[in-house]
Amino acid sequence: MKKVLVATDKPFAKVASDQIKAIFAKANYNCVFLEKYTQQSDFILAAQDADAVIIRSDKVDKDVIDNGKNLKIVVRAGAGYDNVDLAAATEKGVVVMNTPGQNSNAVAELVFGMVIFQLRNHFDGSSGTELKDKNIGIHAYGNVGKNVARIAKGFGMHVFAFDPFVSKQEIEKDGVTVLGSVEELYKTCQFVSLHIPATAETKKSINYALLSSMPGNAVLINTARKEVINEDDLIRIFADRKDFCYVSDVQPDCASALTEYSKRLFFSPKKMGAQTEEANINAGIAAANQIIAFFENNDIRFKVN
Ligand code: 3PG
Repeated sequence: MKKVLVATDKPFAKVASDQIKAIFAKANYNCVFLEKYTQQSDFILAAQDADAVIIRSDKVDKDVIDNGKNLKIVVRAGAGYDNVDLAAATEKGVVVMNTPGQNSNAVAELVFGMVIFQLRNHFDGSSGTELKDKNIGIHAYGNVGKNVARIAKGFGMHVFAFDPFVSKQEIEKDGVTVLGSVEELYKTCQFVSLHIPATAETKKSINYALLSSMPGNAVLINTARKEVINEDDLIRIFADRKDFCYVSDVQPDCASALTEYSKRLFFSPKKMGAQTEEANINAGIAAANQIIAFFENNDIRFKVN
């Protein structure tokens, strides 16, 4: 009987876990959960005899891979797989997949939750501002960016995007204006929502030049990864621009250097963009089905390595 380990430091909603268990029970797989673990060694130990592992932002490092004697597949229930050592997995012949699009609406909704919290002055009762007729720039037009565009239009915003990997026609189909460069996006939009992955090219790429070019009352929204921000530049922009706000689902390492600007920022205590029952069900079920399809039919459609 195949063993599947669901290792989630930040657990799925119970309704999602129950559905994952039911899928594996029906397929006659042994499904084991490791939740809210505090030591990486607990994960390594639990993965030792697993044939497959489902994770969220949990770190699949070389130790997890090398110690997973039976490990054939790791599925990241979510979009970003920067938490998986792809090189180590590839070297050991372990397939890595993600579940693209499954949690993107949840992340996109949080973008607006955080923005409105900021624009209404953290709900302190004072007079705030609105989204209608303002420009929002979507930095990378993937599944989350697309959902952000849809919702932004509902708010009556003017929606712009920059993504060198998506065709102009594809983006324009959604009634979104495509801009020719990242510089143009930041220059044009009071609100910029980040949806780039954390890669060698994008890390620290959101820098002083971009942030200082944003129009008045600029708001940067980050539901992507903290690593894409140049944090020295973030500290500098907060000091230089009294109108700059930053709302983020991921706490920056430099958070303590920004405490004096607390009215102009918001950070989730724990990354919670994808933390909804619906997203957990969608991503969790997709991960479970992908594992079964892999073992039963050699289906490697969502392989990323
Ligand atoms: C993703 O990449 O899918 C999101 O960042 C969600 O991450 P999470 O599953 O850890 O909440």
